[in-house]
Amino acid sequence: MKPQIRVYADAAELAAAGAELVAGLAREAQAERGRCTLVLAGGSTPAALYRQLAHEPLSGDLDWTRMFLFWGDERCVSPDDARSNFRMVCENLLRRVEVPHGNIFRIPCELSPDAAAAWYEETLRGFFAGVQGAGGDITPAFDVVLLGLGDDGHVASIFPNTAAISEPNRWVLPIYVEKLDAWRVTLTPAAFKAARNVIFYVSGLAKSRAVREALEGTHDPQQRPAQAVRPENGKIYWLLDAQAAMDLGPRSFD
Ligand code: 6PG
Repeated sequence: MKPQIRVYADAAELAAAGAELVAGLAREAQAERGRCTLVLAGGSTPAALYRQLAHEPLSGDLDWTRMFLFWGDERCVSPDDARSNFRMVCENLLRRVEVPHGNIFRIPCELSPDAAAAWYEETLRGFFAGVQGAGGDITPAFDVVLLGLGDDGHVASIFPNTAAISEPNRWVLPIYVEKLDAWRVTLTPAAFKAARNVIFYVSGLAKSRAVREALEGTHDPQQRPAQAVRPENGKIYWLLDAQAAMDLGPRSFD
């Protein structure tokens, strides 16, 4: 399915639009299926979106008791570490909205990378146990997946030229990121194949080349991991501010 590309004047407009899209899709999921399963992005860009979601009018429009929160990736640090994606979501969203503790599926990176990934894989498979794909196998039918984009093209912690890109079965992998000299735990493209909505959420000039490569470059998921995120029947949105969209040609908007 062709991605929907939406460009906004600046980061503030992007955050407002991103929050409205996530809230709208969440309301739709809750109306149709009684709940919304949302995969949260890490890094710094989505913090402003989470703050918008955590304030009126959007926060009051959502039934937070029927929101189920997951993370697309996590740094292998403790949850109170300044680098933690869980901490970033707590500071910008969870401090202000009442999501039941049992609905928050944090990646337990206080464990070893292998143990955290194994626990998360088992937890996801248990959560989606009743959800089967066309082939009869359990499938991670997330309602909304929010992903950022690194300036090198990585999404979640799926970095270029790493095994995660072509992992056919595992939904979660421990990843040692050479360039960062750091361990991460990440969902894999296999975890996104049944997603109903995937939102790439990107801001800033530093990302413009990676955005162009992902959207207009040749198909090469090893170099452009965003191209490996291919929900079988889901919608893909690219929400960009003008700077991140700077290098896109007219073809991307036809
Ligand atoms: C992480 C994220 C990662 C992030 C990109 C963009 O743990 O860092 O999951 O994939 O989305 O690196 O990060 P910024 O939003 O900070 O530019």
